[in-house]
Amino acid sequence: MKHETIEKNTGLMGILIALVISVAGIAEIVPLMFQAQTTEPAPGVVPYPVLELAGRDVYVKEGCYNCHSQMIRPFVSESLRYGPPSLAGESVYDRPFQWGSKRTGPDLARVGGRYPDDWHLAHLINPRDVVPESNMPGFPWLQDIELDGDLLTTKMRTLRFLGDPYTQEQIDSAASDVEGKTEMDALIAYLQFLGVANNGRNQQ
Ligand code: HEC
Repeated sequence: MKHETIEKNTGLMGILIALVISVAGIAEIVPLMFQAQTTEPAPGVVPYPVLELAGRDVYVKEGCYNCHSQMIRPFVSESLRYGPPSLAGESVYDRPFQWGSKRTGPDLARVGGRYPDDWHLAHLINPRDVVPESNMPGFPWLQDIELDGDLLTTKMRTLRFLGDPYTQEQIDSAASDVEGKTEMDALIAYLQFLGVANNGRNQQ
């Protein structure tokens, strides 16, 4: 077929462009679905315990990802600031993953353990109390919303159905584990959990 025929026929060109993109996309994406490095948890990485799981939902609900990424790129400048580069195997229990690219605030992939719980509490109520120049909004209302244990139990059952290896014991005790806890407690537990299990040391 002559080049001219394709160039003068937009319908045909559209179909051929779609074909090229699909084939290239499949060639790039499909192999990833079968690589252990991307489908199996990195050493030490476990499914979110119930409180951290609840905190992850708060993180997504409040749109923290609009200002924070959770992916340390493989550059020296990034590692000096945030720690070792993120591995795909650290996100296998993230549905959906929170990698992102928008960094109004710092990357949070390894923020776990960087600050004490009290710091996070003060910071989440009013960031300017601890970082005077901060433009991050406060989220004080999270202290007033109690967690729903039954809903979390259902979520864990669903995640187990999707393949996350929760034990029956974890599911049975989920509701009592979060009794009296607030969304603020959950969010802080989640932040403290980020990146500590593997910490990128066990490169596969
Ligand atoms: C409008 C943008 C914006 C939103 C939305 C936002 N942040 Fe921030 N965040 C920032 C900025 C800017 C900083 C740096 C200044 C500071 O520490 O307050 C920051 C800092 C942080 C830090 C300290 C990180 C470090 O390494 O020092 C944490 C933890 C954090 N944010 C968590 C959250 C959480 C959790 C949410 C959602 C509930 C959230 N942020 C929503 C902008 C934002």
